[in-house]
Amino acid sequence: MLPELKTQIPGPKSLQASEKLRRYECQNITYMADDWPVFWQRAAERNVWDVDGNRFLDFTSAFGVAGMGHGSTADAMVAQAGQLVHGMGDVHPTELKAQLCEQLSKISYERWGLGIGKSILSNSGFEAVESALKTALVKTGKAGIVSFKNGYHGLGYGALLSVGLARFKEPFSSQLAEVSVQLTFPRTADDLTQLASELEKIDASQMGALIVEPIQGRGGKVVPPAGFLAQLRAWCDANGVVLIYDEIYTGFYRTGKLFACEWQGVFPDLICVGKALSGGYPISACIGTAEVMDAWPVSPGEALHTSTFLGNPVGCAMALEALRQLDDDGVGEMVLSASEYLVKQLEQLAHPSIKEVRGRGLMIGAELVQADGSPDGALAGKILSEMLAAGVLMLADGDDGNVLAFVPPFSVTHEEIDFVIGLLSTMLPSHD
Ligand SMILES: Cc1ncc(COP(=O)(O)O)c(C=O)c1O
Repeated sequence: MLPELKTQIPGPKSLQASEKLRRYECQNITYMADDWPVFWQRAAERNVWDVDGNRFLDFTSAFGVAGMGHGSTADAMVAQAGQLVHGMGDVHPTELKAQLCEQLSKISYERWGLGIGKSILSNSGFEAVESALKTALVKTGKAGIVSFKNGYHGLGYGALLSVGLARFKEPFSSQLAEVSVQLTFPRTADDLTQLASELEKIDASQMGALIVEPIQGRGGKVVPPAGFLAQLRAWCDANGVVLIYDEIYTGFYRTGKLFACEWQGVFPDLICVGKALSGGYPISACIGTAEVMDAWPVSPGEALHTSTFLGNPVGCAMALEALRQLDDDGVGEMVLSASEYLVKQLEQLAHPSIKEVRGRGLMIGAELVQADGSPDGALAGKILSEMLAAGVLMLADGDDGNVLAFVPPFSVTHEEIDFVIGLLSTMLPSHD
């Protein structure tokens, strides 16, 4: 549904809640300004209502979590909560955990014809990345990590080792081991030649893991050229390096296929998933080939890697329901047809401030630039505020925050797309 606003944005109740949060939350966490944020109260499908009763149209899917719409797994959550809300993940687990691990294998390695996949469940996305990095070390005995500039893998210390967006890493670099090498993420076929020479310069004898987003999300919705993943696969195979795909953002049809790596048909040793896995509960997983995962020793009664909430039954029940809903070829078609329409409308704006429209599926970015071609993060920021004031939830990506991100739930309608593009056309600077 289109937005319906009843108050100024933010409304009085949001402003009141902001005051409280400003007082009691660490000031680095929630961005606060006169025009931001609104406090959410409820959500359904593509809409969010705030505490003042305003209805917003969500073009973020709440960080890419609500691909199938807000509340798509709420019934499973309620049913499970009536039975059991917490188990003993690595001691006395639930059947749900076994079922989820089986399903994760079926949708990944078994589907790709690579045998059984084995999982380590966790809570946040960054924890799945940390499971993968540890697994690579256990398998290879080599501490080095190859990753990509502008890559994003979450902000835990382990995950930060591989993050390429420097602003997240630098403040904490004094507590981070110097184990990573960062490559340039390719945009064109020509860039693959440079990638080859960057790979050649690496001392592979020190490298245990190579981690990559098959399509960069927070780095600015960058789609690599054909042949990219095959090049990485070949280098990893030649050098005994574990290939890790971070599909925390791109997984579960966000890019139009179940996993973004399926666009290139090249598969990893480990794949990290989270976000849309459960449609709204903090649960994530690192899924690996049996060959790589079996490098871990059998648990002697105390796991080397676990956590209190691992395999939480509510999260498992919601993830199983999400996977059931996603087991439908129609989902990919729905994403691709909405994507085609969205991209066409964005391109038809043909506005000089939009340097490029890119991305895949419903993970689309519009890169904003100034007249001299430099990144225009200020314009993106202004547009995000104006969109919020008009009832549309949006975010921006990229190293300079200048890539407007269009990440709606999959069922987004043409009317909703037209509405957002119509607004955008009034917010871009006039060039007369
Ligand atoms: C590709 C990718 N990896 C990892 C993460 C981190 O996930 P989380 O914020 O759940 O720790 C994100 C979050 O945006 C992401 O986009």
